[in-house]
Amino acid sequence: MARKLAFINYKGGVGKTSLVVNVSACLARRGHRVLLVDLDTQSNASIWLMRIERWNRINLEKRGSIFSILDPATDRLKDIVVKDVIRNNAGESLLPGLDLLPTTFNLLDIENEYAIDPQNPHYLIFNEQLRGIEHNYDYILFDCPPNILNASQLGVFSANELYVPANPDALSLIGFTLMIEKLLLFYRRSAGFRKPEMGPFARVAGIIFNSIKANVDIGVPKMRMQLRINQFKKQRLVSNEACIFNTAVRDATIVRRAVTLGLPVCLVSSREIEEGVGGDYENITEELLNHSVSEALPSVANAS
Ligand SMILES: Nc1ncnc2c1ncn2[C@@H]1O[C@H](COP(=O)(O)OP(=O)(O)O)[C@@H](O)[C@H]1O
Ligand SMILES: [Mg+2]
Repeated sequence: MARKLAFINYKGGVGKTSLVVNVSACLARRGHRVLLVDLDTQSNASIWLMRIERWNRINLEKRGSIFSILDPATDRLKDIVVKDVIRNNAGESLLPGLDLLPTTFNLLDIENEYAIDPQNPHYLIFNEQLRGIEHNYDYILFDCPPNILNASQLGVFSANELYVPANPDALSLIGFTLMIEKLLLFYRRSAGFRKPEMGPFARVAGIIFNSIKANVDIGVPKMRMQLRINQFKKQRLVSNEACIFNTAVRDATIVRRAVTLGLPVCLVSSREIEEGVGGDYENITEELLNHSVSEALPSVANAS
């Protein structure tokens, strides 16, 4: 079974998309089969990796992206996977093994126009189709928007582990706390659809500090975050193994430039990689690979 990891926080701009894209690329470079699932209505990861022309085509067609499995429900997830998504202008694959489930702007409709069937909600339809392709992958990573609304629920319901990108500021801590509250509400609401083969609801397994400027000491924000994790652990609201990753991703302009180039940092020519931020993504990937999360505890939905 693939490990399914959702990257989520209630705060935007903390580095969810850049972490998901760069970690996915590092995993694929190590030979793992990776599926990146873009669940952000802003489509940042899809535009980054498909590049604008290719992405524009599916955006205009209103087919071939995640929302089209729900409306008009003619596409199936297995048919809309973009294989080996990163390609050069000649169409040659630059990173075999990294596939994308793309999103286009119509995913926004899932929050309003789309009529959810209370007997067969969106996250269940998505989960069933995902289970049909899961065996093709070692890792499935979900890039979520900064909320637990309908689009995000697709990833949160299907994931086994949640990772929270954070900046060393008070808002990231507030975002984390708010997310735990909203997560609990969603898990309670969707508990009736949970089948044993899906495993328990995903809990937070790790916090990853991102965009850390040189000479900024993150000791105090880290300590505050650790205290919050300890408190949630006692309440069983996060995984027993939840931790702050040893590696923090430094702030580096190449991360922003990589978006313009349509490449993950590890494929940007090495002389351009300033201050070793590429190494940070490698180390985060290594920590993820070594991070095992037990599923022995009762699900969050049952926690008091
Ligand atoms: N380590 C970093 N160094 C410099 N800029 C970064 C870094 N990580 C993210 N960014 C930039 O910060 C902005 C927000 O990051 P993004 O990954 O899109 O966050 P989110 O998905 O949480 O909204 C983007 O412009 C991105 O390029
Ligand atoms: Mg994003």
